[in-house]
Amino acid sequence: MASYSMNVMVVVVLIVLLYECTSAQLSTNFYSKTCPKLFPTVNSAVQSAVSKERRMGASLLRLHFHDCFVNLNREGCDGSILLDDTSSLTGEKTAGPNNNSVRGFNVIDNIKSEVEKVCPGVVSCADILAIAARDSVLGGPSWNVKLGRRDSKTASFSKANSGVIPPPTSTLNNLINRFKAVGLSTKDMVALSGSHTIGQARCTSFRARIYNESNIDASFAKQRQESCPSTSGSGDNNLAPLDLQTPTAFDNNYYKNLLVKKGLLHSDQQIFNGGATDSLVKTYSQNPKTFNSDFAAAMIKMGDINPLTGSQGEIRKNCRKAN
Ligand code: HEM
Ligand SMILES: *[C@@H]1O[C@H](CO)[C@@H](O)[C@H](O)[C@H]1NC(C)=O
Ligand SMILES: *[C@@H]1O[C@H](CO)[C@@H](O)[C@H](O)[C@H]1NC(C)=O
Repeated sequence: MASYSMNVMVVVVLIVLLYECTSAQLSTNFYSKTCPKLFPTVNSAVQSAVSKERRMGASLLRLHFHDCFVNLNREGCDGSILLDDTSSLTGEKTAGPNNNSVRGFNVIDNIKSEVEKVCPGVVSCADILAIAARDSVLGGPSWNVKLGRRDSKTASFSKANSGVIPPPTSTLNNLINRFKAVGLSTKDMVALSGSHTIGQARCTSFRARIYNESNIDASFAKQRQESCPSTSGSGDNNLAPLDLQTPTAFDNNYYKNLLVKKGLLHSDQQIFNGGATDSLVKTYSQNPKTFNSDFAAAMIKMGDINPLTGSQGEIRKNCRKAN
């Protein structure tokens, strides 16, 4: 009897230890003692940036996504996207999915310096990205951001190019598989694609779709062609809203557009194109509350991708360079 309860106890202790080692150790109250003013500080800096330029909310949301989606086993949400190139390091900023496209670095610098004023050397740049992404979704869902990520000391151009961030030419299967590879489900993928309810894309990201695809509304294609010439060159960086109806509001119009073949990117229309995700797109188009809660849950899962924790990495002083 005694040895039985001893065994049970050993098993329980082992399970607890195993859990401690494998869990990411992020928590919503990570800075509650060390930086109690963190949330209002980030929030007011995000608000002021977005009031200067509405698109900035979208750009900050996307930065967190591209930070998290880099490499399968390491280098998830670790602030690596923020590192500038140096003579000895080519980082992620000029990698294919990012070059001439990701933005908001000055705003992150500004948020970081405000945070450093209230609690110097405490809050990681990776966590600032996660909080800023939440606060950028103005008018949309909110959620409790998990924190405790540390910053990488390095970044990898080749890993940012290694095909974890899906290109806009992706098929539905590509999209499903790339999200699956970082532990996100098909449902997470469809919900997170709803980020494209805000923000802009360059002509080069949707040119082939508006000139050559058949699952696109003809008048919508024609309208987009007016500011996106068919041949590459000077028009490459011309912008168009990802959500043609309400490009600055975080709502479910993105999904309504897909139902009438008005997705801007090839990859957008893939999630409503006769395949397995059609029914979920319909659900989100009809039920903004379901979209909001699935989106929030998926953002928390995305923020959990391979963080550095404990004594790994560092707390960068300047988000653009390792200490
Ligand atoms: C499902 C796979 C996805 C693909 C293929 C994709 C692709 C793209 C592309 C090509 C652009 C336009 C870039 C440009 O032309 O400069 C874009 C913009 C954007 N993406 Fe995604 N994306 C995906 C998922 C996501 C996710 C998961 C998020 C956030 C959680 C996100 C947030 C955004 C935002 C907010 C913008 C607009 C950024 C701005 O205006 O600065 N995307 N995306
Ligand atoms: C990034 O874009 C710039 C400007 O278009 C271009 O000159 C440069 O070659 C690009 N870098 C990479 C690595 O593709
Ligand atoms: C459309 O497809 C044709 C035939 O494959 C190709 O030559 C052309 O470059 C494509 N146009 C665009 C804008 O992608």
